[in-house]
Amino acid sequence: MKKKYLITSALPYINGIKHLGNLVGSILPADIYARFLKQSGHDVLFICGTDEHGTPAEIAAHEANISIEDYCLKMHDLQKSIYKKFDINFDYFGRSSDLSNHDLTQKIYKKLKENNCIIQTNINQYYSHFDKRFLPDRYIEGQCPFCGFDKARGDQCDGCSHLLSPEDLISPYSSISGSTDIELKSTKHLFIDLPKIQDQLKTWVDSRTEWSDLVTGIAHKWLKEGLQSRCITRDLTWGVSVPEDGYEGKVFYVWFDAPNAYISITKDWAKQHGDHTEWEKWWLNSQESVHYTQFMAKDNVPFHAIFWPSILLSADMGFKLVDNIKSFHWLTYEKGKFSTSRKRGVFTDQALELYSADYWRYYLISNCPETSDSDFSFTHFASVVNKDLADILGNFLNRTLSLIAKYYDGQIPCTLDSHLIDRTLLSQASEIVGEIHKNLSALKFRPATQMLRSLWVLGNTYITTHEPWTVLKHDKDAAGVVLTHCIHMLKVFAAVSHPFIPKTSSHILDLLNDPDFDKKDELSCDNCLDFTYFKAGHLIKAPQRLFEKIDDETVKNLADRFSGTTNANHE
Ligand code: 2FM
Ligand code: ZN
Repeated sequence: MKKKYLITSALPYINGIKHLGNLVGSILPADIYARFLKQSGHDVLFICGTDEHGTPAEIAAHEANISIEDYCLKMHDLQKSIYKKFDINFDYFGRSSDLSNHDLTQKIYKKLKENNCIIQTNINQYYSHFDKRFLPDRYIEGQCPFCGFDKARGDQCDGCSHLLSPEDLISPYSSISGSTDIELKSTKHLFIDLPKIQDQLKTWVDSRTEWSDLVTGIAHKWLKEGLQSRCITRDLTWGVSVPEDGYEGKVFYVWFDAPNAYISITKDWAKQHGDHTEWEKWWLNSQESVHYTQFMAKDNVPFHAIFWPSILLSADMGFKLVDNIKSFHWLTYEKGKFSTSRKRGVFTDQALELYSADYWRYYLISNCPETSDSDFSFTHFASVVNKDLADILGNFLNRTLSLIAKYYDGQIPCTLDSHLIDRTLLSQASEIVGEIHKNLSALKFRPATQMLRSLWVLGNTYITTHEPWTVLKHDKDAAGVVLTHCIHMLKVFAAVSHPFIPKTSSHILDLLNDPDFDKKDELSCDNCLDFTYFKAGHLIKAPQRLFEKIDDETVKNLADRFSGTTNANHE
């Protein structure tokens, strides 16, 4: 039955181009899931965008020596173009800094205040006389009291990773100007009263039946420790302004506005599609029933399982809360961390300069950190590409299409009438397709990809055991039956592989000269197991190589190039 599915992927921070770990931890699996559901005929909305507020954006713009508005626009366009090249099929890739989010975030705040969920408190914060401003935590540096590192930030020490408060730092100074003329001064801030919503939130969390152990564990840990009121304002100018007197120079905390952008970006999408109210169908509880899944890395879970639902429950504006949260562990790079500052690892723009999207999509999802951390290495990448994509999938296509080109004038040899159909092959294929769909529905991406590989292996085993290249020498008709089965297996491959490797899927359909080629993104799998689909005489194209193999020397060169010394300039 056709259902409505809302899918959001964590909004990537605006500062800098993301690395492969960021891609595999939310956007790529979200895209595969969205494509799968669209392919199954559901009504799907896939929303994402850039997360543009907060200190890192301000710092990055300052370092790039351009205005923050220009910086964000430039980086938004750049990130958007990179995701397009990865064939990420967002319905809309918006911006958390758009006016729609300012408006929505202020409305939510006003509602929270009306519902007595906001507390105003004075706190002590460093004020820089030289810079004439209060300094948010990241704008203060000093010596770490734990390891002595002399450039520790007010929120965390990069020397020893300890979380810090600005008051912990020895010899603190403003990181904007370097001035030591700073003093702790009292200043007012707004807090959301989370203890007040704790019981209601717990009831809601307990009613979530689909969450994984990882997500439930994180949520319960927070609930068990007891929710604390949380400061929702910061001393910055870039962000959503606070609609209160005396809050000039302050904006809402980035995590107070960013999740709301899932809703505001949907509003922007609706506006662009000409129906301003269309977003309501996706976000208002009073409207049609919608199933909502969020994708994110595990460090984002507290914000999505606790913080944002608390805001929405407290505001009580009728917005839909999440049904399922799919969260990922970390992808490491050659057994260490991907490091933006040390230029260690492969970034999304660089990846595309090396190989096209499907190499990465397939490798990353087959190796995604789904139940524990997983590691990226060029050796592993090359072995998966060479075996799965080139040897198994590519070779099957090549053998099938070359034989038909050479011995059957490029025409499908026969029509598979019901008495000709190999029932064993059909039932094995349909069982595997069912498993792939079951795993995708359950958001189990690694098992789904393993099954996809088994499907390709099934085709290969079939052609290898039936040896049409030998049979055709004495019985061309019999070999033709085998090859016609292989053509239908290629059709199954194309349909089922579509969510994972969409370009390759289209490429296969194009080579098969399949009328379904036009459908591309709406390519359904409903009829893909119909082995009578192609008729005798249907003209197909000559084979083309789907994937290039990666040799040992290239692996070595790439591993050296991305080891963290000479990598290109990424912030
Ligand atoms: O961790 C991150 O990359 C955040 N920018 C995710 C934000 S998700 C959402 F709530 F906006
Ligand atoms: Zn330290």
